[in-house]
Amino acid sequence: MDRIAMGARLMIVSDLDHTMVDHHDAENMSLLRFNALWESNYRHDSLLVFSTGRSPALYKQLRKEKPMLTPDITIMSVGTEITYGNSMVPDDGWVEVLNQKWDRNIVTDETSKFSELTLQAETEQRPHKVSFYVDRTKAQTVMKELSECLQKRGLDIKIIYSGGMDLDILPQGAGKGQALAYLLKKFKAEGKPPGNTLVCGDSGNDAELFSIPEVYGVMVSNAQEELLQWHAENARGNPNIIHAKERCAAGIIEAIGHFNLGPNTSPRDVADFMECKLENVNPGHEVVKFYLFYERWRRGEIDNCEAYITSLKASCDPTAVFVFPSGVERTLHECIHRMRGCHGDQKGKQFRVWVDSVLSTPTGSSTWEVKFDKWELSGDEQYCCVTTVKLNAKGSSASAGYTWVNVQQKWLEGFEKKDDSTWLF
Ligand code: GLC
Ligand code: MG
Repeated sequence: MDRIAMGARLMIVSDLDHTMVDHHDAENMSLLRFNALWESNYRHDSLLVFSTGRSPALYKQLRKEKPMLTPDITIMSVGTEITYGNSMVPDDGWVEVLNQKWDRNIVTDETSKFSELTLQAETEQRPHKVSFYVDRTKAQTVMKELSECLQKRGLDIKIIYSGGMDLDILPQGAGKGQALAYLLKKFKAEGKPPGNTLVCGDSGNDAELFSIPEVYGVMVSNAQEELLQWHAENARGNPNIIHAKERCAAGIIEAIGHFNLGPNTSPRDVADFMECKLENVNPGHEVVKFYLFYERWRRGEIDNCEAYITSLKASCDPTAVFVFPSGVERTLHECIHRMRGCHGDQKGKQFRVWVDSVLSTPTGSSTWEVKFDKWELSGDEQYCCVTTVKLNAKGSSASAGYTWVNVQQKWLEGFEKKDDSTWLF
């Protein structure tokens, strides 16, 4: 977790359902636009934090359904579970904090007396979270009565109503806001607070995120009434919080621009990125740009023009080799030649390509090793290759761009393509 140790340039803390993920966008365009922006401009020195109401089980399910990036930190179950990295190592210190004045049995005992409450699925009942459904019209009264009952029994709890239907009972010290405050305190204690923090949400359980001092906040355009109302009552006039014009992840990109937090043009919004100015040279950008070109080429969204192929070839060492997952080797020039013949072969079909966790390590004064997961969605099939690319600076510094000198891929378990003879990149 080197980027945490360094102090992040920007830390984005985003809710998932209806914030990062738009369930009304079958094409996932705003999410894919965000992904390309993050991997090309932020991944190397910034932190991505997902903060969701979902339990680990439902979070993992969502990751299978939507093209989501791998966050650096995952906060689940409404701020009651914090984990780090891809392997999701739990923060045991946080569990200690949550055990204070909390007794799950008393909560289940008292709540059983309320007929208005319907228990949510078993997966959503967690060590520090008990969750129900309750009708919008009854929510306020139930919350008040329940809170009195539990207080009488000696508990210090918090009740949160979200999405006009979900009621969560948590320890008082829990919640998305408290979990973020805990992380910020930890980074500060280490002398590495993030340069800027942007919180993003759409519903009731996100409200707390917006009350943490010194953070910027975006309520996406499609935010729920309960969040807008909370804002009107508690944070109206705070210039660091906006209600975006755009939905979901597009609203997050809008906020990055509004608050001047860094680059806010997704490579997906650049029509001709082969002619993209080199103001933004980093290995992440190079990789994102290449795979986006590959997607557009096969979708037939860019012209079948020789200049593109010439320019691609010029950015590869003539002897550069691509080692396929099967172990087969071809020169990169040969691979580009094969791709050339596939122009538009995915036209009108479901075909998307994105990269995740692009991280580069210098291996010399002008050489880098770049590792990332390359995803390809083709119809109903989804493939993923753990990819390593070796890049050299073209000139004396990277400002002149890169030369690709080697590519190696291995299938990610569970996402193999049975026959890789038609696999291109
Ligand atoms: C997610 C969780 C659910 C919770 C809701 C609101 O949907 O799965 O348990 O009640 O978020 O926080
Ligand atoms: Mg949400």
